[in-house]
Amino acid sequence: MTSTTENTAGPATILSEDIEEIADLFSVTLTDTPASDEERAKKLDSPKFGTVFTDHMARISWRRDEGWVHRRVQKYGPLQLDPATAVLHYGQEIFEGLKAYQHADGSVWAFRPEENAARLARSAHRLALPALPVDDFMAACAVLVRTDRAWVPTAPDSSLYLRPFMFASEPFLGVRPADEVQFLVIASPSGAYFAGGVKPVSIWVDAEYHRAGPGGTGAAKCGGNYAASLLPQMEAAAKGFDQVCFLDGGSNVYLEELGGMNVFLVMDDGSVHTPELTGSILEGVTRSSILRLAADHGRDVVERRIPLTELVEGLKGGRVAEVFACGTAAVVTPVGRLAGETFDATVGDGQPGELTIAIRQELTDIQYGRTPDRHGWMRRLA
Ligand code: COI
Repeated sequence: MTSTTENTAGPATILSEDIEEIADLFSVTLTDTPASDEERAKKLDSPKFGTVFTDHMARISWRRDEGWVHRRVQKYGPLQLDPATAVLHYGQEIFEGLKAYQHADGSVWAFRPEENAARLARSAHRLALPALPVDDFMAACAVLVRTDRAWVPTAPDSSLYLRPFMFASEPFLGVRPADEVQFLVIASPSGAYFAGGVKPVSIWVDAEYHRAGPGGTGAAKCGGNYAASLLPQMEAAAKGFDQVCFLDGGSNVYLEELGGMNVFLVMDDGSVHTPELTGSILEGVTRSSILRLAADHGRDVVERRIPLTELVEGLKGGRVAEVFACGTAAVVTPVGRLAGETFDATVGDGQPGELTIAIRQELTDIQYGRTPDRHGWMRRLA
């Protein structure tokens, strides 16, 4: 039987009062077919990234004349879409990725969720979608996590990956911003993003394809950017590489990002360098957190344009000591090898670098509540 309940699933006022007030506006209609304890335990046992989903999803609808309405949590399941739904034709869609971590005392926390909410609003602006208020974003995540609390995994390095997304739901084939939009949050228990744990990955630096161009949507987290990265990723995989690094679309000279991850270099003098935000690079929450942690450790932190030629010479001459990639899903992932049409270089001795491992450890210690949250980054959801 489907029952509609008051939202009483979580402890009172663990986010700001404003967010808790919005959370109270959500109706929660529980699924009539929840996974049994046994089924859930089976699904929570080493889930492959992005393959397992919880019992419910959060949803808010938008209409141009009404604004954001109908806040609800409902049974997870397929969406019924008219074949003319705008997103299916013109790709007016954006998304986010963040994780909920269970701490030793059983509480559940998100890492800097306001940053994801703010980025979703920036992405919305670029894709001509309506801005969702930060408090609605936070409340939707919190109510979903509270409803599906039993799905937060507890194994080491596991978390509940939250995927908020927004799309043009109006059935209309004219090319203009849609008058109807849906915002949803789904949740996926996850372990490591890369099979094999924290092993160095190999990267193909692509000089042929770009994921974004000047004035394009590179800084927005929209599906189209990821679609553009699939063919290069497939071709790199066929050559035996794990990931692709893209160069800037304007000059084809400077490192940008990996499509789903930002990239960092650690130099032989200990300084930490990453491509500056040019408008075609995604501003990662993990990226900005690492910049802060590295600076806390007294490292020189440099955001600048990094020519590929400098990276290649630096790898060969020893000036570049470590390379790592970072993102919500991938956390901090060491890079062991970089290659392109004209070069093939091992990073250091091919093993994870010292700072790479230290930063990963510190970041995850904060996220899992194993060390004090000195920057006030964590938000308790349940
Ligand atoms: C994330 O790290 O959350 C990402 O968006 C990367 C990828 C799974 C799309």
